[in-house]
Amino acid sequence: MANHHFGNIGDIWKHLPLCEILAIVQPARYWETHAGSACYDLSHTPGRDHGIYRFLRAAPGEEPLAASRYRALLSEMPKRAAEPAVYPGSPHLAMRCLQERGAMFIFCDIDGSSLDDIQRAADDLHVPRDCVRCVAADGIASIFEQLEKLNDEEAARTFIHIDPFLLHAAGEQGMNSVELFCEATKRGAQVMLWYAFDSPTPRRTDVWDLFRSTSAAHDLSRSTHNLWAGEISMPGVTASQLPDISLAGCGILCANLTDPALAACDALGRSFARIYHDIRFADGAVGQYDFTTACDL
Ligand SMILES: C[S@@+](CC[C@H](N)C(=O)[O-])C[C@H]1O[C@@H](n2cnc3c(N)ncnc32)[C@H](O)[C@@H]1O
Repeated sequence: MANHHFGNIGDIWKHLPLCEILAIVQPARYWETHAGSACYDLSHTPGRDHGIYRFLRAAPGEEPLAASRYRALLSEMPKRAAEPAVYPGSPHLAMRCLQERGAMFIFCDIDGSSLDDIQRAADDLHVPRDCVRCVAADGIASIFEQLEKLNDEEAARTFIHIDPFLLHAAGEQGMNSVELFCEATKRGAQVMLWYAFDSPTPRRTDVWDLFRSTSAAHDLSRSTHNLWAGEISMPGVTASQLPDISLAGCGILCANLTDPALAACDALGRSFARIYHDIRFADGAVGQYDFTTACDL
């Protein structure tokens, strides 16, 4: 297993909207650049207490979270002392959301043991072997290669989840994750790019400068691609204030999704930020996440 960040806050504001989007748009294909494992043994750490365990505790009192597809899937995971014993990574969640419609999956990762875990989970979930491809190679280059083979109609029914390790890092073809986002958007695929920023680096302004310059170079516009970002952040927080367990912020940048899917993400984001109204900073101050949306790059 190569992903040690599972169940932290960044995972929740990725998997929560992801499940809702997939349930609504029901794509025929689900492709992921940095898949990680399907399942992780779940136990308490400060990061997970701040992430998944806070969600599990608070979600019943927040209606959009309580009724979310993500919470329903968590409740079906094997349990230990009334809590999930296993945390589902995005490959597991995607297969659960889409297996009934017979979707085709491509999962990329450079870690062989993560891909083995995905294949095991697919077998356990009875997803037919010819519906799942695990690709042991750079995810940005591999997904771009697959994208080039699709016709327009196929591209429109393909959901691409870009979950980069480093937003700026170029893959084997010299393309970075934001460039892949723009290429997939122009082809008409449904796209979700997860991003995070921190204090001191990368700063939120660095991330948004990259989004703006790359989308301008690719001639993307909100009106043609329904661009949308939903972000949780703590404006003005300094590196010394930020608790080790928290991120300064993270978000999802989406393209070509339907309005009902974006409305559902908007409601979930507002509700999710509300359960983080009492974050303890290192200096004793209490802070909170804000949820913001942007429809223009
Ligand atoms: C944060 S995890 C992915 C989490 C997963 N998408 C989820 O949401 O549950 C990061 C994964 O990226 C993989 N990885 C790192 N560099 C990669 C690359 N260039 N191409 C594909 N996967 C990569 C790592 O092996 C690791 O399993």
